[in-house]
Amino acid sequence: MSKQVTKIGVLTSGGDAPGMNAAIRAVVRTGIYYGLEVYGIVRGYQGMIEDNIFHMDSKSVANIIQKGGTILKTARSKEFFTPEGRQKAYENLQKHGINGLVVIGGDGSFRGAQKFSNEFDIPCIGLPGTIDKDIAGTDFTIGFDTAVNTAVEAIDKIRDTADAHDRLFIVEVMGRDAGYIAMHSGLATGAENVLIPEQKTNIDEIVMTLTEKEKRKKLVNLIVVAEGDEYGGATEIGKILKDRMPNADIRVCILGHIQRGGAPSCIDRNLASQMGYYAVESLLQGRNNVMVGIVNNEMNYIKLDDAVKQKQTVSDEMLKIIKILAS
Ligand code: F6P
Repeated sequence: MSKQVTKIGVLTSGGDAPGMNAAIRAVVRTGIYYGLEVYGIVRGYQGMIEDNIFHMDSKSVANIIQKGGTILKTARSKEFFTPEGRQKAYENLQKHGINGLVVIGGDGSFRGAQKFSNEFDIPCIGLPGTIDKDIAGTDFTIGFDTAVNTAVEAIDKIRDTADAHDRLFIVEVMGRDAGYIAMHSGLATGAENVLIPEQKTNIDEIVMTLTEKEKRKKLVNLIVVAEGDEYGGATEIGKILKDRMPNADIRVCILGHIQRGGAPSCIDRNLASQMGYYAVESLLQGRNNVMVGIVNNEMNYIKLDDAVKQKQTVSDEMLKIIKILAS
């Protein structure tokens, strides 16, 4: 039988994602509603190790639901992946009497939480906060919708100038290991092709399609590339295509970290708010080592391990649709 949770810590870890603040707000206010004490842990696991931990009240999360970034800051702590680092972190939590943890982050953060709660008697609940959407057990992750909309807005602007010059643009979006931003923004902007880490990049096929479209005088050509595609992103793809198609007017544009910032969309705020509420409820129900997801608009629990290992499957059909619609 697990101990009743009375004091909880909340942290954000890994790459920040729009909506993390809304999740923090939901955890703090739901915790207070249920009579818990809530502590903010600054800079993720590193803050746990360095005892950068402070008491939060309802006012600590006022006026943040609409803000990008994370008021708790974030980090990717290497030290936490050592037994000594985790021991220090545990001792600091004990010092504050914290006996439950909510971790808002992506796959690396969940691996950390999994290790930690296997070793120590502190239950951990994960909330999927990453623009990459590369987590199983949830239809969406906090931040993905905002990031995709940012990418779409930028690509639409690129389309204007591509059209004015009859140019081919290779646009790079984020996603070192995941192609969801590329696929969703590519479909939404009418890209010719989307190149993603989960699939091999077929240069011959791209050249063939572009050459055929050139013959038909198709004017605007956009290719959306995830930064982690087989060739390592848009710059490399641009070089290869310039080489193979010397007459084509090709430009490369890397969208970069603008995709991580900005006010969270309505979808992300609401997702984060619901997930934050469910995270506290889960701790109170004695759950441990699970991630709270939303599937078909219903709350869903998945083991942290499975959320990381299973990944989401990339839809071949979606890639097919992208190509058909841009023909
Ligand atoms: O995990 C989110 C993400 O934005 C990835 O899409 C990207 O590859 C990575 O973080 C970039 O990390 P950093 O900001 O540390 O360069």
